Amino acid sequence: MATPTAPLGGGPTVASLLAAASAQVDAIDAQALLLTALGRAAHDRAWLFAHGEDPLTPEAVAHYRSLVERRRHGEPLAYILGEREFFGLRLQVDARVLDPRADTETLVDWALECLATCAESSPRVLDLGTGSGAIALAIAHTAPSTSVTAVDASREALALAQANALRLGLKLRFAHGSWFDPVAGEEFDLVVSNPPYIAEDDPHLAALRHEPREALVSGADGLDDLRRIIATAPAHLAPGGWLLLEHGWNQAEAVRALLTEAGFESVQSRHDLAGIARCSGGRWRTSSAKLRQFGFSLPPQEAKDHE
Ligand SMILES: C[S@@+](CC[C@H](N)C(=O)[O-])C[C@H]1O[C@@H](n2cnc3c(N)ncnc32)[C@H](O)[C@@H]1O
Repeated sequence: MATPTAPLGGGPTVASLLAAASAQVDAIDAQALLLTALGRAAHDRAWLFAHGEDPLTPEAVAHYRSLVERRRHGEPLAYILGEREFFGLRLQVDARVLDPRADTETLVDWALECLATCAESSPRVLDLGTGSGAIALAIAHTAPSTSVTAVDASREALALAQANALRLGLKLRFAHGSWFDPVAGEEFDLVVSNPPYIAEDDPHLAALRHEPREALVSGADGLDDLRRIIATAPAHLAPGGWLLLEHGWNQAEAVRALLTEAGFESVQSRHDLAGIARCSGGRWRTSSAKLRQFGFSLPPQEAKDHE
């Protein structure tokens, strides 16, 4: 670390420490880290500007430098701060779960649109691979009439998601297991998932080494879990129910093809704020479509009644 400018008569000040860190980490990150080291709210940047010349205790300086070191080695800022804002909710996050990304808010926006047109008074929503609970909690908070179930194969992730729900005062059902296994025999009006979707040899994985590998990697082409979810979803969707999936920047076409092959209708993608097709989904439209999926057919008039 560069030597901070020494103020007259003392050790480093707020301003000199921030200036010294700017060569190593993002300036906004350095501000949040210094506020955390000083025991202040990480977003209280106005305090820093008002106290630029304040000298700091050696303990605070040492603590701040250790946080900068962690960030410099690629640890997500959210893990160091212990929290992340997602869809207006403050979530506790740590190395047990994926650091929720702003891009995932695209999936939540789409889910809320689908729920707004759902005829059920208390739509049943399933979030597969809930991690910190980000998607499930955002839906439960914004659409309180929903009944949300959140599944994860990681007990550690579920414990954190449950703690987040408790802190936010939101009531959800949590279930441990692989994809639809814990909800055998149940139907939902909306299934959402941000599953692992990175190919196992993707060079970008090195930069994500602090996050759980089980949250990131999904087979040779990154599509293994998306294939599993799409193949099993029809058995768990109510007629007219939607399946919405987040995926990688270059997977939209493949995911739409999988959805279409599985018999979904209204198959489409949604773009994130960077203009990348980030989510794809489809509608499991009718009971007759469900019967066809399992090899049955209805007499023409009865099939028409189900359309
Ligand atoms: C990309 S993370 C998404 C976390 C969170 N939904 C979000 O958007 O921030 C994928 C999540 O899927 C979970 N997962 C991986 N394999 C799973 C499986 N077979 N069944 C259920 N969850 C699984 C991981 O533990 C991880 O929490």
